Formats: sequence, structure tokens, C-alpha cells
Amino acid sequence: MWSGRFREPLNKQFESWQRSFPFDWRLLAHEVEASIAHARAIEAAGILTSAELLQMEQGLRAVAKLKDIASNEQAEDIHHFVELELTKQIGDLALKLHTGRSRNEQIATDMRLFIREAIDNTIEGLSAWRKALIELAEAAGEAVMPSYTHLQRAEPVLVAHWLLTYVSMIDRDASRLIDARKRMNLCPLGSGAIAGATLALDRTIAAACLNFDAPTPNSMDATSDRDFALEFTQAIATLGIHISRFAEELTLYSTAEFGFLDLPEAFSTGSSAMPQKKNPDLTELLRGKSGRLLGAATTLATLIKGLPLAYNKDLQEGQEPVFDAADTIAGILSVLPAFTASLKFRYDRMKTAAETGYLNAMAAATYLSNKGVPFRKAHEHIGNAVRLGLETNRELEHLTLDELRSISPEFGEDFYAAITLEATLDCHDVIGGTARTRVAAALADARQRIAADIPSESAKLK
Ligand code: ARG
Repeated sequence: MWSGRFREPLNKQFESWQRSFPFDWRLLAHEVEASIAHARAIEAAGILTSAELLQMEQGLRAVAKLKDIASNEQAEDIHHFVELELTKQIGDLALKLHTGRSRNEQIATDMRLFIREAIDNTIEGLSAWRKALIELAEAAGEAVMPSYTHLQRAEPVLVAHWLLTYVSMIDRDASRLIDARKRMNLCPLGSGAIAGATLALDRTIAAACLNFDAPTPNSMDATSDRDFALEFTQAIATLGIHISRFAEELTLYSTAEFGFLDLPEAFSTGSSAMPQKKNPDLTELLRGKSGRLLGAATTLATLIKGLPLAYNKDLQEGQEPVFDAADTIAGILSVLPAFTASLKFRYDRMKTAAETGYLNAMAAATYLSNKGVPFRKAHEHIGNAVRLGLETNRELEHLTLDELRSISPEFGEDFYAAITLEATLDCHDVIGGTARTRVAAALADARQRIAADIPSESAKLK
């Protein structure tokens, strides 16, 4: 590709060590698409006749169909590979393809195409996971569970309310990806090696051909920018963190100590040593893989931060973490929706846990404050009532009215109705609260959005 200026051959070890083909071969389809787009632009600029363009397109499409290419030992990178193979297909005409372009703009373009597709696939997988969570929440009805702060029981919440937490996270993850996609959807072709193509190319031709919104506005930026890769890996890392939290909760809740769910057998493993075990390998792996996703984002950030403008070969090292993040999230999303859909909760155990341990203390304090007791005082009275309960091994609803009145005269008969499980839920009657009507509305809203926002579809139309 560039041997003209050199007298000495390359050191053999160096030659093989610096090759990117062992991993960038997977950009083949994108490299071909981008090459066809470029061929059309140079035809319009008069470099190719329309007959030559036709021949070149056919040759390129034939190259795209090649199988088992990864072990090729001749090609330095995917760009070199396509050029070599195209020459086999159409002879010397292939050598015209590189007119007015540089590998620097090509790799920037291929990576954008790869990531755009990875984003679309991720959004599709996320939609499936969101749907599974919503259906699980619908099936939970008015089932309750304890919520935790500091991993200490806090207040009862609807199981559906808990599950919708993850739907909120998914909504943010999807919006981050869609947003990143919009920002990256510009075409570097025509940027040349650094300063712009040396041909009077109409850059809008290639941009339109590849479904980009427009050409990139600055050639130095276009050839050195990997923000789109950084943003992608960062968005995926954040998604990985959310998946890891979900995995951690399920791992915990499936223990005998919590007993909130039976792990689905189809997604669990046994122990070769201890016959009684059912291990949560799936959730553990999810948790582990999030570390790997964070690693990809960290690699990208570290790689980019010290680079002078514009292209530097360091950028070649940015490909593998992107591929790895895309493969890892695709793998995760190939199991997560089905795993989620198969979860079976032990609502009886969840309810018992929600009803014990004074989880209605907050509702009790609210009762007193509704009677005009300042909240700080109400808090103190209920604290005293809890202590009495702890000493005599009873929940608040089992203390007698006389006992309660000896703590504060504001307690009345209606206290007991104010601290039932239902009342304890329903006193959180605000937008985003766990009152039953609020959760029903949130769930209906989420259900509607499944139908309305199938972002991957609209994204793919572009
Ligand atoms: N394989 C190279 C990469 O991934 C392609 C660009 C090479 N450009 C260059 N000036 N050596 O970055």
C-alpha cells in the first residue's frame, strides 16, 4: 500500500505485530459499503466512467461475500484486504478506488457504521428486556415486598414499583444511545488523510449513500475523532452497571436468607461438589461482565486523551474494545429478556418480610403528623412505640390503644386502619410513589410506551 518510499523491507516481527486485520476483518461489510459510496462520489467527480463504476460495485459486492477471511496473512488491515481482493476481481481498475481517499477517513467511517449498527441492535435488545420487566410487573399485581435503604428494611413497596425502577434505567440507557447515534451520524468520507480530499468531491453523495445525515464539518476532527466510540462504550458501560445492579439484587433475593425467588432451572447451574446447590451463574456472569464493559470505556478514554491531532496509529487500539463491548452487550441481551420473563417470585415470603420489622413506622408517624403533631415529635413517639414493640416482641398494630396513648394522647382507634399494609402503600400518593393507583398509572404508561417507542425501527429507517 505504501512501499514506494521505502528501500528496506519491513522487519518481519514488526510487520505481523502491527497488523489490524486479525480483528478488523469484521468490518468487511462496512468497508465495502463505504467503498461503494466513495466510488459513486469519484464517478461523479469524473474519475470513473459509469461503466467502470458498475464494474467496481460488482467487484466490491463479490468481495463482501468472501467467507472465512480472518486467517488471511497478506492483508495489513481491512482496507488493504478489500483492495487486494478487488484487484483479483476486476484487475487494475481496482487501483483507481483509492483516488481521493485515505485509510484515515475510511477507518473513521467504518467504525461509525459498525457502532451505528451496534446501537440499533442494543436498543432492540433493550426493548425486549423492558417488555419482559413490564410484563413481570403486570403479573405481580398488588404483590408487595420490603424496600431497603442501607440494605435494611425500609418501607413496603409494590413488587411492580421495584421492577419499574429498572424500566426507568432502561429508558435512560436507550435515550443515551439514541442521542449518541444522532451525534455520530455524520460521514467522514472526503476528509482525506487530514486536510480534506484533494479531489473536488461532492461529499454529500457518499454521506447520503451511507444514510448519514451530512458530511462531517472538519477534516482534522473527522480523521482523529473517536468520541462516538467513547460515547458508545460509556453508554454501554452505564447500561452494564444497571444490569449488574439487577443481577446483584436477584442474586441476593434468591438466597435462602431472603428467599424472594426461586431461580429458574433453565438458567441456573448445579455444583459438581455439593449436590444440593443451585447456583446463580447467570446473574453472577452479568455482574462480572459489567466490569469488562467499564474496561472498554476506560481503554477508549485513556487511548484518546493524550493524542495530538489528527490521526495516530494508537487509534487502531480503539477497535477491539468497541468490538468487545458490542459483543458483550449482545451476548447479555441474548439471555436477559428470557431470563427476566421466567422469574418466579415467592410473593408469600416477600409479603411476610414486608409486614414484619416495623415497616409501617413511617406511615404511623404520618398518621400522628396528620393529627397535627409536628413531624419531629411524631417521629419520636413512633420511635418509642417501636421500642415497646421490640421489648415485647410485637408489631405496631399489636400494641393496645392504651399503650399507645401512654406514649402520646393523639393516638385514636383509626390508627390501626392507617398502618395496614394497603394504607402504608397508599399514603405514598404522589407522582412516582408506590401508592397502588400511582403504580397502576406508571405501569399503564410504561406499557403504552412499549408500543409507541420502538426506537430501533425508526432508527433503522434512516
Ligand atoms: N488499520 C488502521 C487503523 O485501524 C487504518 C488506518 C491506517 N492509517 C494510517 N495512516 N496508517 O487505524
